[in-house]
Formats: sequence, structure tokens, C-alpha cells
Amino acid sequence: MKNDSFLKACRREPVSFTPVWMMRQAGRYMKEYQAIRAKVDFLTLCKTPDLAAKATLLPVDLMEVDVAILFSDILIPVEAMGMEVVFTEHKGPQFPRPIRDEDGVRNLINPVIEEKTGFVFEAIKILKKELADRVPLIGFSGAPYTLATYMIEGETSRNFNSIKKWIYRSPDQLHKLLEKITVTVTDYVRAQIDAGAEAIQFFDTWAGALSADEYREFSAPYLRRIIASIRRPGVPVISYVNGGGLFLDQMVESGADVISLDWRVDLKSTREKYGKRVALQGNLDPCALYADPAVIRREVRKVLEKFGNGSGHIFNLGHGILPDTPVENALAMIRAVHEESVRFHQ
Ligand code: CP3
Repeated sequence: MKNDSFLKACRREPVSFTPVWMMRQAGRYMKEYQAIRAKVDFLTLCKTPDLAAKATLLPVDLMEVDVAILFSDILIPVEAMGMEVVFTEHKGPQFPRPIRDEDGVRNLINPVIEEKTGFVFEAIKILKKELADRVPLIGFSGAPYTLATYMIEGETSRNFNSIKKWIYRSPDQLHKLLEKITVTVTDYVRAQIDAGAEAIQFFDTWAGALSADEYREFSAPYLRRIIASIRRPGVPVISYVNGGGLFLDQMVESGADVISLDWRVDLKSTREKYGKRVALQGNLDPCALYADPAVIRREVRKVLEKFGNGSGHIFNLGHGILPDTPVENALAMIRAVHEESVRFHQ
């Protein structure tokens, strides 16, 4: 691997600079991505291996990031389980027939994953060739709780009333659903590693709406099981929860090698507490990229100083890059990380 700074940082081994990438790094903030999307809709893009590979490579070729993350979506395996998903412009993903009851859970399938999402593994194989060991490739999946949220809410939700109703009225049924999702997520991630993914990130985007006790019951055990059964030597696992600051303990105990932090979390005290057990990823506020490059550099320095000297840090945003981010600002952030971080590794 020509640039293995990311894999080394995941293992907390010495590096000469802090590796950096951005969640949603191939996206609408890039005009080259918009040009691809002008020709095909989002789901077609995800399902056409050549195009998905092309989108994955854009930030590697143009943004100087230290890892590639497969271009896809966390809702691909949900569709594979038998739910129709539509991506509407400006509205995000929607499920016309969300799960309402026990029958809905029973009707979900655990597919032979290669049959339903073979295009994902195909894209990974193409990418392995095209990347030619320039940077590692991250595969990913939604965590079961976040996927269950979409299945029950039917769309991105503000208050999560529907899934919370299940938590309070029919927790057993919710556990059945989470069990079923866990089976498919395990197959899905394992097949990504088989195809060549060199690290895996789990997105538990909506688990931040849970209390610590609810997270302990409805998210952590499933993720822990998945991580234990997909674990492979040399393939680091990253766990991300937006709003996970209240249950970092549990995230560390899940068996992940890297905990991905949002911008609300203090990197210094988190490193003091967990830095001997896991590497940390994050955690610049994506909105910082609205500032001018001098301010961005200052904010980058603040994050690097919070982590301090030594390895075990992967610089990232605290959540996905926003579509209206000026591309030159994102590039300014990445260059600032590469330049400013050198002194923390001497
Ligand atoms: O990071 C990457 O570049 C890899 C690709 C990736 C996408 N989605 C592409 C995408 C990844 C890792 C995801 C994960 C994902 N998808 C999450 C978890 C990460 C997070 O943001 O917390 C979630 C919650 C989803 C569900 C989803 N997909 C939403 C809410 C949306 C709409 C968002 C929006 O800004 O419109 C999507 C669509 C989506 N996924 C886009 C991209 C580039 C935009 C689609 C377009 O081109 O119109």
C-alpha cells in the first residue's frame, strides 16, 4: 500500500502525518459528481459498478484524501431485504410501505446477499484494480438500529415517533426485526471484505436519539455480534454514532478498533479515557467548511491540538460533508490537516 497512513492510524502505529478523509466525500459538493448524477439517478449510480467505482475515485483523484470509501448507501441492504426504497430529489430516501407490524417483520427476507447486492461486491473488485494500492478502501453498512429506523419511520425522521412507539409498546417485535437485520448486515459486510474492502465503517446515524439504556438494549448487542463475527486480522472496524457522546463506553466495548466522533465530543478527554483501547476518528463540525481557508486552518489546528501528539487519530468531519460546501474549502481542510499534523508526529 503506497499510502497506508489510515490503516496505521487505525492500529495506533506511528505515522508521519494524520490521515484524513470526509464522510460523504463523493457527493454533490463536487461538480464532477453532479455531472455523473445529471445522467443517472442515485440508485442506478449505486447499482452500476463502473459508475459507483468512478464516483468512489473522484475524491481520491481530486481531493487528496487518504482513503477511498465505497460509493453506495446504507439503504441498499434494506432494499435487498424486500423493501421498496425511492430517493426523491431534496427529500432523501423514502420507503413507500414502511413496516407497521409483526407481519411486516415476517415478510422481510434474508436474501442470498450475492444475488441481491452483487453490484456492490463487483464495484469493490473494480476499485481494487483501479486504486492499485494507492490508498485503502473502506466498505460500510448501516448498523441494525439505524436501518430499523428507516424501515419503521419510512423516511428520515425528526422525532423518531414510530420506532420509539415500538420501543415502548412492542420491544420484543423490535428485537425480532433487529435480529433479522443483523443476519443480512453480517452477510453483507463479510462479502465486502471478501471482495477486498480493507476496513469497515458502521453508521449508526440515528442511535443518537436513544438514551444510554436504550442504546444498550437496542443497538449495542447487535453491533457487537456483527463485529465479532466479521472480524478479520488487519481489517479495522470503525463505529460511528451521530450524537454518540453519551455512550462512548459502549461503543468502545462493541469491539470496534476506531470510534468515530461527532463535533460535540471533546477529543482530548475522550483520548485520555479510551486512547489506549481504540483509535479516534473525527471530529470537525462540517459547518466549519463554510468559513474561509484561514479560519478552516485554525479550526483544523484546534482539532489536531485536542488529540495531541502521536498516532491513533484519523481526521474526519463529525458528520457527512454538506452539499453546499465550497469544494476549495474542503481541499483547504485536507491540505491543512496534512501540513499542520506533521509536528504532532515527530
Ligand atoms: O461517504 C461516502 O462518500 C460514501 C457514500 C455514502 C452515501 N451515503 C452516499 C449518498 C455513505 C457512506 C452513505 C451513508 C448513509 N446514507 C447514511 C449514514 C451516514 C450519515 O450521513 O449519517 C445515511 C443516514 C444514509 C441515508 C441517506 N442517503 C440520506 C439521508 C440521503 C439523503 C441525503 C441528502 O443529502 O440528500 C441519502 C442519499 C445519498 N447517499 C447521497 C449520497 C452522495 C445524495 C444522493 C444524490 O446524489 O442526490
